[in-house]
Amino acid sequence: MRITRRESFNAAHRLFRPEWDDKKNLEVFGKCSNPRWHGHNYILYVTVNGDVDPATGFVLNLKSLSRIIRTFVVDKLDHKNINLEVDFMEGHMASTENLAIAIWKQLEKPIREQGARLHCVKLIETENNYVEYFGDKQ
Ligand code: NI
Repeated sequence: MRITRRESFNAAHRLFRPEWDDKKNLEVFGKCSNPRWHGHNYILYVTVNGDVDPATGFVLNLKSLSRIIRTFVVDKLDHKNINLEVDFMEGHMASTENLAIAIWKQLEKPIREQGARLHCVKLIETENNYVEYFGDKQ
């Protein structure tokens, strides 16, 4: 059984390589290379799987899942600059792909401690672009 919780956050970022000039960064990263930053309204879907607990009828209490996502992810990202202020993104390009991987790493252990398994982190950056991460294998 899989269950999914949706959360959202707003954050600023810039995609760029410091060793490249603005022209090259614009060619590769487009508008996301804007030197003066910009923001996205990110939407995050966290899917976990596990067995249905006969006592509760739940795989995992969705309030608990929401609390985990807010504590380990949303509170650290919401209204922040991903390049400058988010400890778990230090040293990583602030792309949607890398953010999804970092979110997975933040969530995997606390979800396991609640008796479920993280299945997918789906992160929507714009209405046209999203990524899905299923852990190391994919
Ligand atoms: Ni962007």
